[in-house]
Amino acid sequence: MGVEVSVEGLTKSFGSQNIWRDVTFTLPSGEVNALLGPSGTGKSVFLKTLIGLLHPEQGSVIIDGTDITLCSAKELYEIRKLFGVLFQDGALFGSMSLYDNIAFPLREHTKKKEDEVRRIVMEKVEMVGLLGAEDKLPGEISGGMRKRAGLARALVLDPQIILCDEPDSGLDPVRTAYISQLLIDINATIDATILIVTHNINIARTIPDNIGMLFRKELVMFGPREQLLTSEQPVVKQFLSGDRFGPIGMSEEKDEAVAAAEAAMQAAGISGGGTKDDFTEIIPQVQPNPGMPERKASVRHRERVLEMLPTFTPNVQDAILRSIAQEDEIKAQNRGEMAQAHAATVAAPAVALGKSAPDYAGDDAVTQSWAVAPGLVDGPTEEYEVPNEGGRHSSTEIPDNRS
Ligand SMILES: Nc1ncnc2c1ncn2[C@@H]1O[C@H](COP(=O)(O)OP(=O)(O)OP(=O)(O)O)[C@@H](O)[C@H]1O
Ligand SMILES: [Mg+2]
Repeated sequence: MGVEVSVEGLTKSFGSQNIWRDVTFTLPSGEVNALLGPSGTGKSVFLKTLIGLLHPEQGSVIIDGTDITLCSAKELYEIRKLFGVLFQDGALFGSMSLYDNIAFPLREHTKKKEDEVRRIVMEKVEMVGLLGAEDKLPGEISGGMRKRAGLARALVLDPQIILCDEPDSGLDPVRTAYISQLLIDINATIDATILIVTHNINIARTIPDNIGMLFRKELVMFGPREQLLTSEQPVVKQFLSGDRFGPIGMSEEKDEAVAAAEAAMQAAGISGGGTKDDFTEIIPQVQPNPGMPERKASVRHRERVLEMLPTFTPNVQDAILRSIAQEDEIKAQNRGEMAQAHAATVAAPAVALGKSAPDYAGDDAVTQSWAVAPGLVDGPTEEYEVPNEGGRHSSTEIPDNRS
């Protein structure tokens, strides 16, 4: 199971420049989390602090029971084996082929023989869609390809904590969808705790269980995705909609004159260019591909969030409950479709199935999906109560496979 990462009172400065202060939150084990924030607010610095590459002045980062801010270099070296990190710039070695870059953590941290290294490297190369490019140098491939190579390298040790700094930057929308799905599938397979730094609002809406946001040197909020997506805080609303008008300016904070000029423009009906999308309309979270196991963390997340429900405002509670009901409906529908497809396969075994899953999932994944027949039957329906509203919502039962 993925490892919980607990950050408490973390403060980081470079010389006299404070980057953020008193940041406190917990990445629950195995859950998928996103960190948002305007450019320059210190998201990349935060990731580097989590793995002990940068040292905070104050606070603790507890990983697997160890405060890494107090670790010796040797202890840190061991703890880092838990991590797979995709750096914002890919951070590939320019003089090594993609193959050697991706093999690097295996050669550095394990005693695996070269044929085993090759098997793992080529599996990850295929996963990120880079087959055929493995002998190229980082300077000979596109920015998006470098990003995917960086992700492949982050995954070779089957990490328990995956940190991805803007996995989508430099990628086209289709590759972004594949990478997002890949992260969800990996989470379903190895239950790793994932933190994704992103400016991509579509990823923020559909991938994480929890979202946090950094602004003006502080963590504005961190909680279930529904909390941030339905937030009325001007900075959150502006960030999600991508509007010029609001507290975020070109250089993070706006001065009063600019704010007043913008207020006048707004009053005159001039658009700030943002999307008019309704973010309180929660879109379903991306589910693992057919053939992948169910995400254990999503079961744990649900239990945790339902327990915390009374602490949220009514609109957040409502969004969470709508989202749960929606997820149950989708899962039941998927199970129904798979059962139908399964029945059709039994009746006509010659039907080709391989094309229904993306290439990187491989044929094994497709084959597996036909082996889960016992789970295809919808679970019984139970009701749970909204603790401080007294309303009742129906939901299919939380599966038994929690651990
Ligand atoms: N090694 C360093 N030494 C001094 N200052 C640094 C260092 N690394 C980052 N900074 C400063 O910390 C601030 C935050 O940088 P960071 O790269 O974390 O921003 P970010 O939120 O990731 O931005 P973006 O969204 O553009 O990637 C910036 O002002 C940057 O100049
Ligand atoms: Mg950054």
